[in-house]
Amino acid sequence: MKPLVYVTRKLPEEIIVRLQENYEIDMWSKAEVQVPREILLEKVKKADALLTVISDRLDEELFSKGENLKVVANMAVGYDNVDLDAASKYGIAICNTPDVLTDTTADLAFALLLATARRMVEAAEFVKNGEWKSWSPMLLAGTDVHHKTIGIVGMGKIGTVVAKRAAGFDMEIIYHNRRRHEVAEEMLGARYCSMDELLEEADFVVCLAPLTEETKGMFQREQFQKMKKDAIFINASRGPIVNEEALYDALQAGEIAAAGLDVFNEEPIGANHPLLALTNVVALPHIGSATKETRIAMMETCCDNLDAIFADRTPRTLVNKDFLSSRH
Ligand code: DGY
Repeated sequence: MKPLVYVTRKLPEEIIVRLQENYEIDMWSKAEVQVPREILLEKVKKADALLTVISDRLDEELFSKGENLKVVANMAVGYDNVDLDAASKYGIAICNTPDVLTDTTADLAFALLLATARRMVEAAEFVKNGEWKSWSPMLLAGTDVHHKTIGIVGMGKIGTVVAKRAAGFDMEIIYHNRRRHEVAEEMLGARYCSMDELLEEADFVVCLAPLTEETKGMFQREQFQKMKKDAIFINASRGPIVNEEALYDALQAGEIAAAGLDVFNEEPIGANHPLLALTNVVALPHIGSATKETRIAMMETCCDNLDAIFADRTPRTLVNKDFLSSRH
């Protein structure tokens, strides 16, 4: 009998066809609506594997019901939706999808920086709303990106590629990270600095750190107050790293100039959220890795990881390496 994989979002046909070669597939029927928790808790009882997305909460309650569950292939590089300790306790392998999305997510982060600095969303709406009456000396004047200082918080793979993009714009690159990143320093001239130095010096503060106990709520009013008054804040990692009320207050008080946000505390963010009423906020619906090529590559990585587990190989992008010790 083929192992049973429960897929928590409707995936494209080409991926299903690939999965069906080796697995029996049960799939939630919707692409844009999350599988209700109670259905997931029911489905996991029979599943040998889950193919999940970032909005699925994968915790001890779920793992404890998965009597046959061997592996979860989570379609994201981030795995803050997963209780790794609980997964390891139940001998369940957790896999993510790094690497294939690095360039694409860096492109989006840098595009968001450009869009926010150059007021591109506001400008596009201005044209579409028929408000453009004449060329005007300071019409929708934004701020320069080239030759400015970018401060990258979280110099991992995506951060390094954002730094590469920034180097092409002749930017000075400073960064803060748990560890020094010698390659970025040597190849891109990035300069390591303390968080406070970064906040004080950067024209663009770009958050790319993963969400962990240490980074949760890392950006409070105090951090925004340390930034330059004309600084632009970009978040392309996870919403809960930022206190959104503090960000709103800082923007309202003119303590920073603008923000470009791809992620939010609660996703989807409500249309009446105060941040969305600000013209100096560019808001996107968590689309960092959203290109057709990359999303398919992420799904393929999930398939590769499932294949590895069921062929008794170690998946290439296994997150909880200690699951092997308790593998069932
Ligand atoms: C990731 O890969 O972690 C993204 O944020 C989800 O698309």
